[in-house]
Amino acid sequence: MSRPVGAITRGTTGYNRLRRSDRWLVHSARVRTALSAASDPLVVDLGYGALPVTTLELAARLQSVRADTRVVGLEIHPERVATARALVLQAGQDASGRHTSVEFTLGGFELAGLRPVLVRAFNVLRQYPVEAVPEAWATMQHRLAPGGLIVDGTCDELGRLSCWVLLDATGPVSLTLACDPFSIERPSDLAVRLPKVLIHHNVPGQRIHALLSAADLAWASVAGHGVFGPRVRWRAMLELLRDENFGGFPVEPPRRRMRDGVLTVPWATVAPLS
Ligand SMILES: C[S@@+](CC[C@H](N)C(=O)[O-])C[C@H]1O[C@@H](n2cnc3c(N)ncnc32)[C@H](O)[C@@H]1O
Repeated sequence: MSRPVGAITRGTTGYNRLRRSDRWLVHSARVRTALSAASDPLVVDLGYGALPVTTLELAARLQSVRADTRVVGLEIHPERVATARALVLQAGQDASGRHTSVEFTLGGFELAGLRPVLVRAFNVLRQYPVEAVPEAWATMQHRLAPGGLIVDGTCDELGRLSCWVLLDATGPVSLTLACDPFSIERPSDLAVRLPKVLIHHNVPGQRIHALLSAADLAWASVAGHGVFGPRVRWRAMLELLRDENFGGFPVEPPRRRMRDGVLTVPWATVAPLS
């Protein structure tokens, strides 16, 4: 087999760190359709890190959408592959059949020759130079099954602040910001966790800066809703952002009951201006 494409980076991870993006994936109409319609419901978790915990969590959550979903955890670091295999075996999970739908193997952006319908790469590209992003995206896009999607995201150590780009085979589709609304002072607290492709563009004159500034202003304007709790305040902030008098941002309407503060916009709303 040829060498996996990419570079070994820090392996920081943690239990439930990626819960907000997992919850979003499970509820996203686009992801649900892709997974349900796939002839082979194969998902890749690229760069799962020092322990395979987030891969197992992803598998369990996606299996609520489609029970026969299989997840392959790919790591560019051979020792991390060995650790993941040993841990899953040690737990007896293969023998009992509980995790036969999850495997771990060596691979990089070339996806080890697999053709998944969904690739999740969290906290991977963040450690690469920004110039490496287009090629990494293109390499993964090229390997997608028909209708396939990629989630390229970044979050803090505990997963309270999280941002991700959803891509299809042709390019980026949307940006999502997700947080625990109890742990922020203002929406732009998420700026430090923007994906590599946007973080350097959070400056006046760029669309992502305009969105975060408007979100902060809207958040301040709906401070009165804070008496009902930060989740209600977050919804009111989304509502205001959609208002024509407030910029008319095409923010996706929130789900009816949502514990996370989530803000999703089409990619065109934040795409960097050169
Ligand atoms: C910070 S950890 C992220 C772990 C987990 N995804 C999370 O968010 O908690 C990044 C991992 O990505 C791996 N990695 C970096 N580039 C990769 C590539 N091109 N293909 C596969 N794994 C890669 C690194 O070896 C490292 O273990």
